[in-house]
Amino acid sequence: MLNFFVKKGFLLDEQMLNFFSQLRDKEVAERIIEKIKNVSNERIITKSFIDKNLNKIQDVFSSLEEEKKKVVERFFVNLSLNIEIRKESYVEEKKEEKEEISANNLKIILPNIIPAKKISVEDFVNHFRNRYIEIKQILQDRSELQNLTSLDKIHGQKQNISVIVLISGKRITKNKNILLEVEDLTGTGLALINHNKPELYEKAKDIVMDEIVGLKCSGSREMLFVNDIVWPNAAIYEKKKSEKECYALFTSDLHVGSDRFLEENFLKFIDWINGKINHKEEVNKIKYLFIVGDTVDGVGIYPGQENLLAIKDIKKQYEKLAELLGKIRKDIRIVMCPGQHDAVRVAEPQPVIGDDYASPLYKLKNLTLVTNPCYVSLVEGFNVLMYHGASFHGVINDIESLRTSNPYERPTMVVKELLKRRHLAPSHSSVVYIPNEKDSLFIRRIPDIVTTGEIHRADVDSYNNILLIANSCWQEQTPYEEKVGNQPDPCKVPMLNLKTREIKILDFS
Ligand SMILES: [Fe+2]
Repeated sequence: MLNFFVKKGFLLDEQMLNFFSQLRDKEVAERIIEKIKNVSNERIITKSFIDKNLNKIQDVFSSLEEEKKKVVERFFVNLSLNIEIRKESYVEEKKEEKEEISANNLKIILPNIIPAKKISVEDFVNHFRNRYIEIKQILQDRSELQNLTSLDKIHGQKQNISVIVLISGKRITKNKNILLEVEDLTGTGLALINHNKPELYEKAKDIVMDEIVGLKCSGSREMLFVNDIVWPNAAIYEKKKSEKECYALFTSDLHVGSDRFLEENFLKFIDWINGKINHKEEVNKIKYLFIVGDTVDGVGIYPGQENLLAIKDIKKQYEKLAELLGKIRKDIRIVMCPGQHDAVRVAEPQPVIGDDYASPLYKLKNLTLVTNPCYVSLVEGFNVLMYHGASFHGVINDIESLRTSNPYERPTMVVKELLKRRHLAPSHSSVVYIPNEKDSLFIRRIPDIVTTGEIHRADVDSYNNILLIANSCWQEQTPYEEKVGNQPDPCKVPMLNLKTREIKILDFS
């Protein structure tokens, strides 16, 4: 076996050599090599490499005869790797994201926008199965999660094991404990968080439906007693900085067409960008303007909206928007995604604003239209995640510690919770979405910057070195906002110095 792998250009560590020697199947070895070549440049096959790529190779074992399947299972269990070769075959990883290189050397990664079709329960099942697999891959590398096992492998009473589960139910018992219904790809179970562990209990209160977490626990298949909860989390270790001094501006929620659209202030902002007001040298160094959705107010978005519209025709709203954006100097690259008020489907991922309603935008050479959400990589090395934020209201409602700490004043607090969960809408009910084999709301790449809209208040913060930039708006308080008590803070524009990472909030009110 060793010779076989060496001839193919691969080395094996001791554990994997033992594995392949026991399996004695060159055909399987050959297929695994092919799989590995597809997913990585790695040439040393170790246990941890196999662990990380298990879901990509395990279907190789599905066709084995029963005896050999047993060898594989026994071996993997001994290595404390969870292999699933008897279950339904995994959905093959599909390339469902498009990479586009746009003008100004922006690299844009768009989610695959599935054309309209009838969505079945099966589509949601696949969506969650694949979300589970992707988040599990992150969690299984976490050192806190010792003795990882799957639910169907828990026999008898166990101490100090870990499971990676999706939360399918959560309630408070008569004794004031939190009882979770959990599931993985092998089965379902119950997990209890005792109210006598106050620190853990506080953490557990924030668990939301459908999210995927690691649980450190003891107990049996019938009842697991949780000792700790591990979220997938996101962190950046290298604080990227541009070599040259240049700036990025962030805004959202223009709501052009609304009778509350603050056109004069927006024009003042454009004049400032164009160097017509208080001209400072930094103005010349502005390179990007991100507009994170709700670019127009739209029509028919909510009952009675027509009474609050200055422009009642959606095409005319986009015409006006194009006229305004057209005034911005051409060396600034504008990157713009839609929000719920734009003329695209509400279900996420939202496609780019189309030329059916917004053809004048297509004449602007310095405008790049992107999906919501979307990753944009800048030549300066920064990866920007743009997400308008339709899920925020649901997320605020679901997470107790968030709900009780004024998130509408500090929208970046919501973004922190999403990064912790590596998902832009963790619960099925957080947002309207189209299920996809590649979950487009999973935070697959850890961004350097997350920029959002929706809450109509500018707020900046950072989370594990990820810059969080929530945007203000260009619309006065609407009757709806007044009714629910949300105080917008319009006309504030965060400006990021990509060389120093310093952020200033400009005020055009
Ligand atoms: Fe908005």
